[in-house]
Amino acid sequence: MIKADMDWPNLAFGYYKTDQNIRFTWRNGSWDNGVLTSDETLPLHMAATCLHYGQECFEGLKAYETKNGDVVVFRIEENARRMIRSCKKILMEPPPEELFIDGCFRAINANRKYVPPYGTGASLYVRPFTIGSGAEVGVKPASEYMFIVLVTPVGPYFKTGFKPVDMIIEEKVDRAAPLGVGDVKVGGNYAASLRAGVAARKKGYADVLYLDAKEKKYMDESGPANFFAITKQGQYVTPDSETILPSIINMSLITLAEELGLRPERRPVEVEEIFEFAEAGCCGTAAVITPIGSITYRDRKVEYCKDGQPGRYCTELYQRLIAIQTGDAPDPYGWVRVVPK
Ligand code: PLP
Ligand code: COI
Repeated sequence: MIKADMDWPNLAFGYYKTDQNIRFTWRNGSWDNGVLTSDETLPLHMAATCLHYGQECFEGLKAYETKNGDVVVFRIEENARRMIRSCKKILMEPPPEELFIDGCFRAINANRKYVPPYGTGASLYVRPFTIGSGAEVGVKPASEYMFIVLVTPVGPYFKTGFKPVDMIIEEKVDRAAPLGVGDVKVGGNYAASLRAGVAARKKGYADVLYLDAKEKKYMDESGPANFFAITKQGQYVTPDSETILPSIINMSLITLAEELGLRPERRPVEVEEIFEFAEAGCCGTAAVITPIGSITYRDRKVEYCKDGQPGRYCTELYQRLIAIQTGDAPDPYGWVRVVPK
């Protein structure tokens, strides 16, 4: 396979043009078979509900090339199921699991030359999304939907890669409301988080950590990733909250933490606990594991990596996860799937 001519080890987490994307339409009660196209734009009715009322949700997963040249994806069924939950929550027609997986595989196959070569540290980011494409002016669900998959090669989400980042706890902006849609991957949650994220980066932080919107007492998550910490007593702790996205990477780390002898605990995490943790990190598809170097909360700052190096458990979890995702290590849990040609 002749690969595209790209600076693979130095890719940003951004949009790079690839050859084709795939689009499915739901109309009159059924999904069509999908078409591949090189068109990067969408023909969309100006009254489509995604444009006015936020009927949109998306997913994110990564495809890696393995040592033997296969292309693999990680727990794709979980992304398919989460998209179904997201669609149902905002009354959109969900693409069935098989259609979701078929769409991702066809989009990856149409762009194999953009799957970063094994060992470059980069990956092919797969971004499936569903939109209300039918025209409405009243606030109601659309009568037509599109499911689209675009792919783009990416480098690390946080520029520094696997290096500790500084985070700030945001109390003046809420990303998601109790009983709202924070537990699904709908675009509005990200629109709501933009102003806090941009302000934090202007102040030199990598991103924000949100507290629960109701009491401002418990840790929630960051804009693009879940939060976890390692306690001095050897627990892997991660927030249990109805306003965070159930992360597939976090779910996997809970399993891997147990392998490392850490005791996993998913429970409400009080913000004051951050001053006691041994290590902290963000996790997600894009963020993989991003160790947290410091958290600023009001006028206090806690540092986890005084020597500038990620902690022992963040490092071990990262290495174990990446080895499974890239096919370097055996896959005892059946998480990895080869993309059939
Ligand atoms: N939380 C938010 C708000 C996200 O956008 C993501 C990214 O998908 C995650 C957490 C991590 O989820 P996952 O591990 O499934 O990628
Ligand atoms: C992902 O990790 O796949 C995400 O969707 C997070 C982000 C880029 C919004």
